[in-house]
Amino acid sequence: MSNSKTIVLFILTICFLGATASLNAQTYAKNGMVVSSDRGSSAVGVSMLKKGGNAVDAAVATAFSLAVTHPSAGNIGGGGFMVFMNAEGKTTTIDFREKAPLAATNTMYLDADGQLIEDSNHMSAKAIGVPGTVAGLYLAHSKYGKLPWKTVIQPAIDQAQNGFPFNWSLYHDAQYFSKTEGVNTFMKTYFNNKNAAIMQPNELWKQLALAQTLTLIRDQGPDGFYKGKTAQKIVDFMRKNGGIITKKDLAKYEAIEREPIKGSYKGYDIYTMPPPSSGGVALVEMMNLMELADFKSLEFNSAAHLHLVAEAMRRAFADRAEHLGDPDFNPNIPVTKLTAKDFAKKRFQEINMAKASPSDSALYGRLYDSDNTTHLSVMDKEGNAVSLTYTLEYSYGSQMGAKELGFIFNNEMGDFNPQPGSTKNNGQIGTAPNLIAPEKRMLSSMTPTIVSKNGKPYLVIGSPGGRTIINTVFQTTLNVLEFNMRIDKAIEALKIHHQWLPNQIVYEKNLLSPDTRKILESMGHTLKERNNMGALMGITYDAEKKIFTGASDSSQPDSGAVGY
Ligand code: GLY
Repeated sequence: MSNSKTIVLFILTICFLGATASLNAQTYAKNGMVVSSDRGSSAVGVSMLKKGGNAVDAAVATAFSLAVTHPSAGNIGGGGFMVFMNAEGKTTTIDFREKAPLAATNTMYLDADGQLIEDSNHMSAKAIGVPGTVAGLYLAHSKYGKLPWKTVIQPAIDQAQNGFPFNWSLYHDAQYFSKTEGVNTFMKTYFNNKNAAIMQPNELWKQLALAQTLTLIRDQGPDGFYKGKTAQKIVDFMRKNGGIITKKDLAKYEAIEREPIKGSYKGYDIYTMPPPSSGGVALVEMMNLMELADFKSLEFNSAAHLHLVAEAMRRAFADRAEHLGDPDFNPNIPVTKLTAKDFAKKRFQEINMAKASPSDSALYGRLYDSDNTTHLSVMDKEGNAVSLTYTLEYSYGSQMGAKELGFIFNNEMGDFNPQPGSTKNNGQIGTAPNLIAPEKRMLSSMTPTIVSKNGKPYLVIGSPGGRTIINTVFQTTLNVLEFNMRIDKAIEALKIHHQWLPNQIVYEKNLLSPDTRKILESMGHTLKERNNMGALMGITYDAEKKIFTGASDSSQPDSGAVGY
């Protein structure tokens, strides 16, 4: 199909749905909004709202759809987090983070000398954690959805069975995998059409094996994934490829409903993900620090403004490295202390407004996580809101899968600290809270967040981006709440990232003028340019005008806000 035909098809689909949509700029709607990394998947979510479904139905349908249309991060073989706020402002979270298999040990990636075998925690079947997505989406839907389970999963089955136009991002990835030597044979043929040739842009891409796997989930719920035929095929794959996930691991997996982290900023309430996400704690800690700043005397994106923001990030990431991990294995994580206003006062006093603080590399280091995750935001006409981030860890996860199952396994075990006690200046971290243990969940940076105003959902936001997630969500939230930016402007505004170690400010290209660079360097900051950070998907709700405004990050050309 030609490019213009695809665009016509998309516009016709949107018209048929009676929906409003935009290509990355902001979209307005009266009845509900879905924003995700794929416009077609956002439209699937809106179709659920139009059937009378609520934000949870739309989020679950969109997430299943992204497993078909956006397989670099959309998934059924990975895990993630969901924050749900109902129209009355009552909020909960669903943790469907992957777990370490029962046979996992904290030395499983080390050689006989106790040294880390390079990349073994990322690029091997042993890097696959027990997937959580199917259990998580099912739990969310069964507790908070309205439509039948079969209804919310059917559009994804249809997209896999009948195909959807192969987009340019997928084409780019298909070319990469077709040329890469030594890559798992699964990825070599993953993007091939029925004639065994590489898919071309706008060709209809059908994924028949994935459609079968999704059909079992439709008909049997989580048992269609964690038990029976699919479980057997997963375990066969593990045995053949050196993985350690067993039938018992799959049968034991459970998603968990957890209390959200709650913070506030100048009258707004912030609800976000608790551990095993590190994002919520760090976000609230940084917003508390920002509440103490005098923004009237700080020009937006001036050296002083960016210095303050970077120093807040440095401190939140140091605390993250020291304290955070799976709460079921670390019962004493000081969440209350780290998110307290008094703690922020102490942290704020430590900031020297003229000079960069040191990052003590003798203590902690870089956590492993990657840039390839995906976020979706949903609001419905009753005022319910969902913020959902899920991931395979790397782009296309472990890049492994079984042909007959049609989906890709995560490589999330790489988010654990791989070598106990060994923290190095190169960024490897070995602190205790995030060491590997059977059935433990690995620490994450995913930060799905909902901000409420007068007790009702106001801002729904999240992003992919590894550790940068926390900081891009933080700056976007600050842009909306402190600087009154429109959601699309807040998302597109160029951003910085500091993660304590390495001790540097990473900045998006074109953010810093030569003068600002000079001032920051004279304060003691090391600067590093990067093309892009994050891919934020956000919605705001104007309660007076009763209008939803949605926007997706232009760094993801296939993403989009669809409303109706
Ligand atoms: N794998 C990325 C994260 O969980 O933060």
